[in-house]
Amino acid sequence: SISMDVLALEAKSVNGADSEKKSAPRPKPKPPKKAKRIVYFEVEIVDLKTKEKLLLLDKVEPTATVLDIKALFHKSYPKWYPARQSLRLDPKAKCLRDEEVLQTLPVGTTASFYFSDLGPQLTWGTVFLSECVGPLIIYLMFYFRLPFIYSPKYDFTTSKHWIVHLACMCHSFHYIKRILETMFVHRISHGTMPLRNIFKNCGYYWCTAAWMAYYINHPLYTPPYYGQQQVNTGLYIFLFCQVGNFSIHVALRNLKLPGSKAKKIPYPTKNPFTWIFWLVSCPNYTYEVGSWIGFTVMTQCVPVAFFTLVAFIQMTVWAKGKHRGYLKEFRDYPTLRSSILPFIL
Ligand SMILES: NC(=O)c1ccc[n+]([C@@H]2O[C@H](COP(=O)([O-])OP(=O)(O)OC[C@H]3O[C@@H](n4cnc5c(N)ncnc54)[C@H](OP(=O)(O)O)[C@@H]3O)[C@@H](O)[C@H]2O)c1
Ligand SMILES: *[C@@H]1O[C@H](CO)[C@@H](O)[C@H](O)[C@H]1NC(C)=O
Ligand SMILES: *[C@@H]1O[C@H](CO)[C@@H](O)[C@H](O)[C@H]1NC(C)=O
Repeated sequence: SISMDVLALEAKSVNGADSEKKSAPRPKPKPPKKAKRIVYFEVEIVDLKTKEKLLLLDKVEPTATVLDIKALFHKSYPKWYPARQSLRLDPKAKCLRDEEVLQTLPVGTTASFYFSDLGPQLTWGTVFLSECVGPLIIYLMFYFRLPFIYSPKYDFTTSKHWIVHLACMCHSFHYIKRILETMFVHRISHGTMPLRNIFKNCGYYWCTAAWMAYYINHPLYTPPYYGQQQVNTGLYIFLFCQVGNFSIHVALRNLKLPGSKAKKIPYPTKNPFTWIFWLVSCPNYTYEVGSWIGFTVMTQCVPVAFFTLVAFIQMTVWAKGKHRGYLKEFRDYPTLRSSILPFIL
């Protein structure tokens, strides 16, 4: 049916040309159409490690992308789905990107690709979700004082301090917000992540959640030194930053059309929480650190302060990376911006 469509299209364009000069005599017979010879490529896929020949594709269209080749390879090797495959032109070169087109690659009409297996992959959505669901559940286990956590006489008791309940609400709110954002706000364009990375990420998030929850929900926990005032201050900082963080995520989402990989410079929008884009490249990280500072003030708890510090260092590393990326990609990037802390870092 594709060839039918092509025929129909050709017929249409001929008619279209005709209709402009309807009264004109029949056009002279067309000169024979120049035979458009497609030069097909021959593609060979070789195992990077063993140099064993895995597959020979003998008639690949020149406009095929790397992803198309991966899909053809997948047909012969069902266990290696495209996201698991890495293809390169030289054993030491970088992996080819999925969008690259065969005829623009530096190869002749016979091309050898070196294949390596990247291992099982997870989509970013799955990764985000497992990073967030764990802390949410773990924290609640401590909050409800399930058996074997504190001494048996405290099983299923509740704290008499209001701040403990407030902290649980804030902590749960934070992770529920992240889960909902992952499902409904983010437009995640990069493909997948190796399965083994998830153990590292989740291990970190889950363990710190347990550590914080253990102390905050401990029967001997003492509320903040400056009482209600300190709790309120922390709570305001926390809520302010959560709203800010959400605003940034919405702004980033609106920057990108669904499915497109084109990057743009994010600018402040009508929402005042996004005006911080004038000063920093990664306000989502600034707000993230801010809300953990709020949580620290509110709970006055050493493990929380430690988590905040580590998060700050990690966010700074990522923010600097993204900032450098923006500077490299956009020549007209606003010079006033720093990575994460206005004018400082
Ligand atoms: N290794 C690193 O250097 C590094 C750095 C940052 C994050 N991480 C990992 O990512 C996780 C969390 O990072 P994250 O929360 O910052 O999420 P993220 O994966 O960096 O980004 C989330 C979403 O926002 C989009 N986005 C960001 N800037 C954009 C722009 N200028 N224009 C259009 N869309 C844009 C992203 O698009 P794109 O998919 O196109 O980016 C993505 O869809 C961490 O758990 C960590 O494992 C790693
Ligand atoms: C946070 O901001 C950086 C820089 O704009 C961006 O690359 C990253 O994807 C953002 N994270 C999320 C979850 O939107
Ligand atoms: C803020 O954004 C970052 C990355 O964009 C995200 O990982 C984090 O969970 C968010 N923090 C808060 C407090 O919502």
